[in-house]
Amino acid sequence: MAEGTLTTAVRLARHVDRLEAEHPPIDLESVDWTVGRPVEFEARFGHVLDYMARVELEVDRNVLELMTMLPDPPEIDRRFYADVWQPQETRHGLILDRLQVELGREPADADLSSIGSKLKILGALGRWPAFQDVSRMIYYLTGMATERSAVLAYNLLHDGVIEMREGAMAETIIAPIKRQEPGHYAFYQLSARGLWAELAGWQKWLVRKLRTLSFAPVGANNDRQKADFGELMETLGITADLDDFARQISRVETELLWAQKRGLKVPPYVVAAFREAVQHAEARRAAASA
Ligand SMILES: [Fe+2]
Ligand SMILES: [Fe+2]
Repeated sequence: MAEGTLTTAVRLARHVDRLEAEHPPIDLESVDWTVGRPVEFEARFGHVLDYMARVELEVDRNVLELMTMLPDPPEIDRRFYADVWQPQETRHGLILDRLQVELGREPADADLSSIGSKLKILGALGRWPAFQDVSRMIYYLTGMATERSAVLAYNLLHDGVIEMREGAMAETIIAPIKRQEPGHYAFYQLSARGLWAELAGWQKWLVRKLRTLSFAPVGANNDRQKADFGELMETLGITADLDDFARQISRVETELLWAQKRGLKVPPYVVAAFREAVQHAEARRAAASA
């Protein structure tokens, strides 16, 4: 094993050990459900809670997708998603979903079980190890973009919650959740850097192709969900600074995949996907007011 590989493996193992020891799933008993101005809060951020709750709960489906797409994952990946990621994220989802129900909303409509045919094809191809590495690279890139989006979105939501003087919620819900996201991002970043260095030219070419064709904002799998994400962007103030948000969530992806395109700040498919979400939200708003 090359020294670089060994270092990545050791660093990943230590990282997962640390996350497991220092970040148990948030204790439901620690949550203070007090909301000072529930009507105002729901009107402004209710739909944001719903989107985040759904995406966090759908981690159960993401794990099924992973097992389909990567039939033979490295042990460290399996440990991360089974012992750290899934328990933490599903708890985030439960808490946010209960919060929105406390505010009088319907619980999130999370899809916990359907697996698309594209993933089944990737899974079948994944029996060939060289191809499984391509799928694994896509998984790490998706993980990085998703977790970085989560960190930024929770920071913005936290600002809004503080601005509305909902101290209990900020302190016992949003802050504890947002503290757990950077550890997930770090796992994917370490994994992505390690694997990218090992891929052959054709594998890198295929990763670029697949990523260009399939990039989507987290949880935005159909037109309605794209519009929902566009609304979330609007409420959190991301739309106004869309290029910067896109740049931040794809910083390492740009560095690894597009190093040959000197000066490229952000892959065009990332910006296009966020713009599309904004357009879906605008179209739905226009239709509703017509
Ligand atoms: Fe989360
Ligand atoms: Fe996360």
